[in-house]
Amino acid sequence: MTTNIVLTGFMGTGKSEVARELSRLCGMRLIDIDREIETSRRKSISEIFSSCGEDYFRQIEAAAILQFASEQGVIISTGGGAVLREENLKALQAHGLIFCLTASPETIMLRTARNNDRPLLQCDDRQMRISELLAERQPFYEKAGIMINTEGKTPLEIANEIIGKIS
Ligand code: S3P
Repeated sequence: MTTNIVLTGFMGTGKSEVARELSRLCGMRLIDIDREIETSRRKSISEIFSSCGEDYFRQIEAAAILQFASEQGVIISTGGGAVLREENLKALQAHGLIFCLTASPETIMLRTARNNDRPLLQCDDRQMRISELLAERQPFYEKAGIMINTEGKTPLEIANEIIGKIS
């Protein structure tokens, strides 16, 4: 298959884990945009946010997406804010089929509690922040691609569901 499979969706919806399963099941190379940024900048996403700010991160995120979106036959996992920019969405759609993973605010709360590496969720009221950001982003996610509810499913089950939709 030459078309890319692109995963997007809010933080904590399981994009990276599902992308790994898809890569394994389909024998397609995995490109995780955030990991590519961290490797090329030799800094974590949190460090980039704290030292250079979110606007700068969005610029390098857009550059990385532009670079990798034109690959062929790869799995691309994006950060949760990637499809907020029209240019990113267009680049990803040009060569790929986009799936948007979804989960309830409660599940996102649980899944993101495991680590502190998400700068946008470092605040006193994480539950509130998640609800606000989800509401703000919902229209962008709906526009981006095929919605896949991840609630109560394992990464393997979700990957198989995606494969079922493309084959
Ligand atoms: C972000 C999501 C993160 C990362 C950055 C910003 C967002 O990726 O790109 O912290 O704006 O939703 P994950 O969705 O993989 O956590």
